[in-house]
Amino acid sequence: MPDYLTLKWIHMGAAVLSIAGFVLRYVWMIAQSPLLQARPTRILPHIVDTVLLASAILLAWMAGIAPWTAGWLGYKTIALVVYIVLGAIALKRGRTRGARIVAGIAAIAVFASILWVARFKSLPFVFGA
Ligand code: HEM
Repeated sequence: MPDYLTLKWIHMGAAVLSIAGFVLRYVWMIAQSPLLQARPTRILPHIVDTVLLASAILLAWMAGIAPWTAGWLGYKTIALVVYIVLGAIALKRGRTRGARIVAGIAAIAVFASILWVARFKSLPFVFGA
């Protein structure tokens, strides 16, 4: 079992790979590139997102905090799901090109808000309090 700090680096690395991979696939979607359907393009994001989520759960467990006891962690958990859903709409499920483009921008914005909350561990920025 890696120590807490190593796990945090793994978690942050997976987060960087997740958004970098998403932006790349988003660009390929807009450019209508066949690379979007390539096997590695379809498999790698699942591995990255599994590492992101597994490291997140382990970190929270090691730190002894739960999403329902720390607001910032609850926000991250819900926002991660929203990011995944918006990402799926942007890359696959969106019916029109316009809907996919808007969903992609929203996914990137939600991701940015997660980074902010991860860094400052508070919610005012997100809820405008
Ligand atoms: C897209 C989703 C996520 C991103 C981009 C993300 C990003 C980050 C970043 C950048 C840090 C380092 C913060 C710092 O110390 O400066 C971090 C730490 C952490 N994250 Fe995430 N995270 C995500 C999802 C989650 C989820 C879903 C959970 C929990 C269920 C979680 C739990 C944690 C915990 C416990 C830490 C360590 C906090 C600390 O000890 O300082 N993360 N995350």
